[in-house]
Amino acid sequence: MARLTTLFVAAAALLFAGGTAAFADSLSPDPLAPTGKWTANPHGRALTPPMGWNSYNAYGVEVDEAKVLSAAQALVDTRLAKLGYVYVNIDDGWWLKRRAPDGRMQIRTELFPSAKVSGDSSFKPFTDRLHAMGLKAGIYSDMGRNACSQRFNLTSPSLPVGTTAEREVGLYGHVDQDIDLYFRQWGFDYIKIDACGLNYYGPDEAVIKAQGYRGFPPIIDQNAINRTDITQVRALYQSVTDALAKSDPDNDFVLSLCNWGTADVRSWGQEVGNMWRTSQDITPDWTRMLHTFDSAATRALYAHPGAWNDPDMLEVGHGDFDENHLTEARSHFSLWAMINAPLIIGYDLRKAPKSLMDIWGNADIVRLNQDPAGNQAVLEYMSDDVEIFVKTLSNGDKAVAIFNRGLAPASVALTKDHLKMTGEITLTDLWSKTIQTFSDETTFKVAPRDTLVFEAKGARQLANGLYLSEMPGSIHIAADGVIVPEPDPMVHRMLSPWGGSHGGGTRAAYTGWGGAQADSTPYDQNLRIDGQAFLSGIGILAGSRMEVKNRGFNHFEADVGVDDTTRDLKDTVVFLVYGDGKLLGEATGQYGRPAARLSVDVTGVSVIELVARADNRSTDLPLIVTWGNAAVMH
Ligand code: GLA
Repeated sequence: MARLTTLFVAAAALLFAGGTAAFADSLSPDPLAPTGKWTANPHGRALTPPMGWNSYNAYGVEVDEAKVLSAAQALVDTRLAKLGYVYVNIDDGWWLKRRAPDGRMQIRTELFPSAKVSGDSSFKPFTDRLHAMGLKAGIYSDMGRNACSQRFNLTSPSLPVGTTAEREVGLYGHVDQDIDLYFRQWGFDYIKIDACGLNYYGPDEAVIKAQGYRGFPPIIDQNAINRTDITQVRALYQSVTDALAKSDPDNDFVLSLCNWGTADVRSWGQEVGNMWRTSQDITPDWTRMLHTFDSAATRALYAHPGAWNDPDMLEVGHGDFDENHLTEARSHFSLWAMINAPLIIGYDLRKAPKSLMDIWGNADIVRLNQDPAGNQAVLEYMSDDVEIFVKTLSNGDKAVAIFNRGLAPASVALTKDHLKMTGEITLTDLWSKTIQTFSDETTFKVAPRDTLVFEAKGARQLANGLYLSEMPGSIHIAADGVIVPEPDPMVHRMLSPWGGSHGGGTRAAYTGWGGAQADSTPYDQNLRIDGQAFLSGIGILAGSRMEVKNRGFNHFEADVGVDDTTRDLKDTVVFLVYGDGKLLGEATGQYGRPAARLSVDVTGVSVIELVARADNRSTDLPLIVTWGNAAVMH
C-alpha cells in the first residue's frame, strides 16, 4: 500500500509537472529498491545554510532601493559580509505589475530608481551593484497568481496596480518566463517563493470581489492536510526547480520554499528546494520563536548540505529580542545556528547598536552554523523546561547548546553521554569565551530563557568512527515509511500573535509526525529493542530507505530490531544494507525479539543504503524500527 501510494504520487507529479525523461528515469517501481546513489536534490548552491539580510522583518512590505542598499552597505562596512552574510534579499513589495500583453514583470521604479529603463524596467543595474560589492541578490515571488501583500496589506502604497491580469504578479502560469527574467536576465541568485496565492484566494473570499482578483481554489488548507493537494503543491514548486536548472545552468542559486510547513513540505522540501519553511511566520515574540524553532528542531535527518530546514528569518533586534532583551536575542540566534537554520537578518542595519552587532557577528556561533559537515544539532535531552542539543562538527569536535525554555533558573547536568564523548572534556563557552574541563558530568545553572553554547573537545566514545546520529548531514531520508501524513504535536503552541484567543486554539498543524529521528523513535520515545536501550541510533518506520554518504569508512555496524514502542506487534521487518546498490547484509526483526547484529564491510563504498522493509503487512499500525548504535567505522 505504501509503495502504491508513493508510486501514484510520483506518477501524478510527473504528469502535473509535464516532465518527461528525467522524471521517468527516477520512477522506480519500488521506492525501497537500492539506487546505488545519493538521490537528494542536486540543484542550487547552499552547501552551508544561506546567510544574509531580508527586508521583511525590518520593513514589512514597504521595501525600497535605498533601504536595501543601506543594508548591503552595512553588511560590507561591518564584518558581517566577511562572516558570510552575503545574500541581500528583497521581500514582498517590489512589483508594479505584469505588463500586458506579453506578461513581462515590471518593477515599481519609484521605489527602485535604478530599475528605470525606457519602456521597461530591469533589476540588472541593482544586482550588478550588489555583485560589485561582493554580495548576492535575492528576489521574492509567490507560487500562485497573487501575493501575500495583496491579501493582507491592502492599505500599502506598494501594491501592484492595473487590471486583474496586470496585478497577477505571482509565478502561476508564468514560471519559465519569470524565472528566466529574474535569473538569466536580471541576475538574481536567490528566490523565496511564498504560497499565499495557493491558499488565500478562494473564489468565495470577500477580497476577491472587493479587489477584482481572479479566484484560485485553494490547494493548501493550513488546518487540514486532507484538504491540501500535496501532489500539486509539490509539483508547482518542482516546476520552479526545473525552470531554475534551465535559466541558471551554473547551478549557483538558492531556492527557498515558503509554504509555511504546509502540504507535508517538512518531508519533501529536501527533494525540491534548498531550504523550506517548516512553520508559519515568526514574530518578535518569545513563544512564537519557540513555535517556529520547534518546527525545525526535530528534523535533523531531513537536512544536509544543499537542503535546510527553515524556521523563518531572524527577529534579533525586535520585540522580545531587542537590545533590552539580549538573553533572548542570544538564545534565538544560538538556537538558529545550532540547527543549521539559514541566518537571515531582518533589521534596519543603519541603526544597529553594538550589542546586536555582537550577536550577528559572533564568529564562533556563525562557525557552528556554517560547519561544512552540515550536521544539524540533535536533541539529546528533551523536556518542556530544558533542552540539550548536540552538533557534531566536521573535525569531530562537538557543539552543545543548553537551552532553558522555562520561567525559573534551571540546574542542568551535562553528561559525557549527551556528548557521546569520554575522558576529560574541554568546554569553551562561545559567548563568554571562558574555558573549563570535566569528566562524566558537570552542572550548570541556566537562567530563564538563556542558552549556553559550548564547543566541546575531547575523545569521542566512538574513537574509530561515527554513530549515524552524529552525522545527519551525510544522511538522506529517501523514504521515511510515513503512509498518511499526520500533524506533529512536538511544536510549542503559543497564543496566536494574530488571532489571540479567538477560535479553539493553536493546534498541531505541520505534518511530519512519525518521520525519521536521530537518537529517538519517530514518535518521541527513547530507542529500545526487547528491553535493551540505545542512547545512539536512528528511529524510523518500516517501509523506509536511508542513503548514507560514506566518507572513507570501512565498516558499518548496527543492532537492529523492532522498537519496543511499535504499534504493529506482529509483522516481521527485514533490514537490508546495500553498498553502492549491492546487498551486503541482512537481518530480520519482530516485536519482542532481541536486537540482531549487522556488521558489514563497506570498504570503497560511496553510498550505503539502509532499508527496513515489511511487505504484506497484516495491519496499517506503525511498525517502528530501531537501527541501534548504527555506526560507520574504520
Ligand atoms: C508571508 C511570508 C513572510 C513574508 C510575507 C510578505 O507571510 O511567510 O515571510 O514574505 O508573506 O508579505
